[in-house]
This record gives sequence, structure tokens and C-alpha cells, in this order.
Amino acid sequence: MSQQVQLDEKKDIHVDKEVLLEVRNLKKYYPVHAGFFKRKVGDVKAVDDISLTLKKGETFGLVGESGCGKSTAGRTILRLTESTDGQVIFDGKDITNLSGSLLREKRQDFQMVFQDPYASLNPKMMVGHLVDEPIRNYTNKSHKQLKTEVEELLERVGLRAEDYFKYPHEFSGGQRQRIGIARALALNPKLIVADEPVSALDVSIQSQVLNLLKELQGEFDLTYLFIAHDLSVVKHMSDRIGVMYLGHMVEVGDKDAIYKEPLHPYTQALTSAIPEPDPLIKKERIILEGDVPSPQNPPTGCVFHTRCPVAMPKCKEIIPQLKEVRPNQQVACLLYDKE
Ligand SMILES: Nc1ncnc2c1ncn2[C@@H]1O[C@H](COP(=O)(O)OP(=O)(O)OP(=O)(O)O)[C@@H](O)[C@H]1O
Ligand SMILES: [Mg+2]
Repeated sequence: MSQQVQLDEKKDIHVDKEVLLEVRNLKKYYPVHAGFFKRKVGDVKAVDDISLTLKKGETFGLVGESGCGKSTAGRTILRLTESTDGQVIFDGKDITNLSGSLLREKRQDFQMVFQDPYASLNPKMMVGHLVDEPIRNYTNKSHKQLKTEVEELLERVGLRAEDYFKYPHEFSGGQRQRIGIARALALNPKLIVADEPVSALDVSIQSQVLNLLKELQGEFDLTYLFIAHDLSVVKHMSDRIGVMYLGHMVEVGDKDAIYKEPLHPYTQALTSAIPEPDPLIKKERIILEGDVPSPQNPPTGCVFHTRCPVAMPKCKEIIPQLKEVRPNQQVACLLYDKE
């Protein structure tokens, strides 16, 4: 679609109008200090050179074990944490170094839904004010207008208009997450980063909240970056999936390819752990040996080599790059390196 590719001359960025978010070689290192003088002794490489692209209206599922850098990636993309290196291009604009009023203006377009809906909502604030706070920060709407908008939002996320006057502790976990979702929607954003939005909820409630997020996506024209450690949760939500391991993106592909024909040995291990609903299909579970190494002292070469069941000697030395091995499926693994 060549006519959709334009050159933003000011920033020299190729803008594909179908793309909402492009993350290029993003890194986030947290410095580690130790000793009496609190000298810097190293870095926790929470996110170490990841790239991804989100098309408008799609859901990109980001998965991986605890500590692999999913939340850090989400927070760094939304500029809630400063990046160490790399570029974030949102809706055709490089937002990596935006600050002050320019960043504030852009912030309306991207919001986050957090894992723990109780910790992320101020318990002293009435629901109506929790939801209208972002609107108040950005507009001069009258009290009456705000109230009408908030009541509509509350009803849209499955709560009642009367809930406006209640406080977070009066709600169940699922309802609190609905308040968090209403708050995220208040400014009509383009992108929502949902960081494990159902992990803290009862299994019986999880699918209700996931279904709500799906319905809202069409209605509000939303693009989602959906973070989860559980592959079965992202399965129902995602169009494409990225798999992270120890700060690196090891595989990216269409959902079906990731589930049915995973290429990276780590993705193969993760998918083998998903229960098969058909008891006649026998699936071999791949159990990974050992623990995830520390991101402060990651293995050389491919960071997965210490646990990889098919590691080769060169995997200790060469850092594999993400390459397209099949159409719409990229993998960072030397098994697929032809050179
Ligand atoms: N503010 C911080 N300061 C120092 N290290 C941090 C900070 N935040 C995260 N880390 C470290 O960065 C790494 C990645 O953490 P992150 O929370 O992004 O992982 P995650 O994939 O979201 O994990 P989980 O599934 O448990 O939420 C971890 O080793 C973590 O200890
Ligand atoms: Mg996390």
C-alpha cells in the first residue's frame, strides 16, 4: 500500500497510516548501586533491545514468564518510565524525547489499565471523580457535562450510573477493574496498554472482563497492547503475539502461527504447557530445566541458551536477531539462521 506510506519530513520518519505504534530497539536498564558509597555496580537489563509494531485496531499480546520485562516495556512505551535507548513512534510522531506540554498533549491518546485495580485506584476518591479526573485535567467541561459523561461511561463498562457516588472498597475486584477501564476510556484514547488486567481476578470473572475489553475495542476504535504471562489469556484477545524472555523479544507472529507452529524453543515450551481441550490429542509437555537467569547478569549470546533443550555451542557466543522465517512470523534463534 505505497500510497499509505508518507514521509514525515520534519522527523524523517516513514509513516505508515495503518501503524499506530512503532517501537524501535527499546532498552530500559535500571542501574544497580551497592557498597558504602552506593557506587553503580551494574544494570538490570529489564528490556534489552525490543522492537514491535502495532497496527491500528489490533491487539498485540505480549507474553513471557514473570520478570522478563513485560511491564517495564509497557511503561517505557507509554513514557511512564524513561527509556535508556531506542525510539517510540506513536501515530506518526516520535514521542521518545517529548516533554512538557507536548508530552502532556499526547498522553491523552494512550492509557494504561493496571493489574491490581485496587492499588491503582485512590481509595479516598469517589468513583465519579476517579473516572472524571482525566477529563478534568484536560478540558474545561462543566460539572453537569462531566457527570453525564461519567454516568454513561460507567453504564458502558457494566456498572450503574448511581455508582458515581460510591468508593472503590464498595466494589468487587471485577467491578473495580471496570472502574479502571472507564477511567482509561475517559479521554477516548487510541492505545491502551493493559498490563495483566485480569490476573488478579477470579477465573469466573476473568472472561467477563476480557469480553468487555473486546467489545469496547470495536466501539471506541482502540488498539491494545495486552500483557499477560498466561498464553491462554492472550489467545482469546490477540491478533498477534510477541514472546519475551529475559528482556528480549524471541518470537513475534500471528496468533495462530504462535499457537500451532511456534518456532522458538522457548515458545514451544510455553505452548506445550497450555492444556489441550480435546482429550484424544496427546501433547508432549516440554519442561524447561533451571530458573530464569538474573537480568543483571544475563547469559552471553542467546539469553535462552542456558535452558534451551536444543542449544548449540555457537548459541553461547552469537546474539540471535529477530528475522522473518515464515510470512508474518519472526524468530530470534540460531536454529533458523542459514548463514
Ligand atoms: N524500578 C525498578 N528498579 C529496578 N529493577 C526493576 C524495576 N522495575 C522492574 N525491575 C526489574 O526488571 C525486571 C523486569 O521486571 P518487569 O516487572 O518488567 O517484569 P514482568 O515481565 O512484568 O514480570 P511480572 O510477570 O512479574 O509482572 C525484573 O528483574 C525486575 O526486578
Ligand atoms: Mg509485570
